[in-house]
Amino acid sequence: MIRIAVLVSGGGTNLQALINAQTNGILKSGIIVRVISSQVDAYARVRAEKAGIPCSTCQTEDEILEELRECGAELVVLAGYMHILSPAFLKACALPAMNIHPSLLPAFSGKGYFGIRVHEAVLKAGVKVTGASVHMVNEVTDGGEIVAQKAVEILPDDTPEKLQRRVMEQAEWVIYPRAVEEVCRKLSGKVFARPMRYPGRGIITGCTPSGKAMFAYFIMGRSSSSRARVFEKSGDDLIIRMTGKVSDTSLILYAPVRTLGDTVIITNGDQTDTVYDALKDGGTFESALRTREYEPDAPHYTPRISAVITPEGYRQSILKRAGRYFFEYDFTPGKGHLIHTYDHDVMKDAVLPSFEGEPREVSIPEDMETFADSLWEELDEDNKVSLYVRFYDGKTYTDKLFNKGE
Ligand code: GAR
Repeated sequence: MIRIAVLVSGGGTNLQALINAQTNGILKSGIIVRVISSQVDAYARVRAEKAGIPCSTCQTEDEILEELRECGAELVVLAGYMHILSPAFLKACALPAMNIHPSLLPAFSGKGYFGIRVHEAVLKAGVKVTGASVHMVNEVTDGGEIVAQKAVEILPDDTPEKLQRRVMEQAEWVIYPRAVEEVCRKLSGKVFARPMRYPGRGIITGCTPSGKAMFAYFIMGRSSSSRARVFEKSGDDLIIRMTGKVSDTSLILYAPVRTLGDTVIITNGDQTDTVYDALKDGGTFESALRTREYEPDAPHYTPRISAVITPEGYRQSILKRAGRYFFEYDFTPGKGHLIHTYDHDVMKDAVLPSFEGEPREVSIPEDMETFADSLWEELDEDNKVSLYVRFYDGKTYTDKLFNKGE
């Protein structure tokens, strides 16, 4: 489920159409978690309250950013939001955003064309057809990629108000919920909710819609030594080999995957061996990792991320400076969880901030190749190094391996 924040300023009929779409099942891949209004007295606020959706008023873009972070929004939906979001805001927010505009774009758009003014201009121009457009938001006002459009005929006795109402009824309330669902569905297929240049190393564990285990492990690198690596299979395990000369290999050479009977251990360091040895001796994933801590690579102190898959389910862990965290999941068809080392996409950061919060729920498709290909594609071209994906049907496994360096 994609977490949606809706930005409003006025009556909120488009917000209402989205709320209704949640109730009647048209909007099923996303959920409205917050309504943010630019006006204290917007009727849209009443609609949000009636639907039990938390609502807040924000006057500045900084306040909106704070709200978006706080509610964990993954998609911003503008529904009659009467302000233009600045390029600085869009960059800082780094979330996909969409808008509905009451004309057939690119006609009657840009600065000054909003609300009733659009319909006044349409009638003044004497055009015979108008409509509504849903588009992605970018730094050009009303200029982002068009997602959906619907035409509405202009009648001889139209006034701006009559036309506005008809465009809403015949076009906006119909196409917006469907377009939001379409964007949510596409976002659900992605592993990262927002483009992330440097998540570092990452583990996904989960199961396919038919209940088969699937996992992925990827590495990215910033330094030349970190990039001079390739994954290599060694029996049922995965190891890393250097492709160039490096003085210190202590944190970059390890076995990311080890298999012990029907249990698979996946980690971003030599804690794979710690967990393997413990499980062999009757210990647990948790007891093994309690003997370890984050990596000693000041100033980042890279978290150690680990996972174990058993026939019963899977567990994930992150050991960071703030403490040791463990997460336990049952297999849920079509679902998995992603954990990664860093939580930032700003490459110039001297200190890379550690992954925050709980592992992110991701969709797992049935087809391993599709999953592997799209994940490799999604990883930032400049920084990705290797990816390994394995699908296990309970008896045998199939896998796929990508190495940028080869
Ligand atoms: C709608 O017609 C929407 O398309 C338009 O304002 C109205 C808001 O109504 N948006 C813009 O003009 C954006 N440039 P609502 O508050 O009842 O949804």
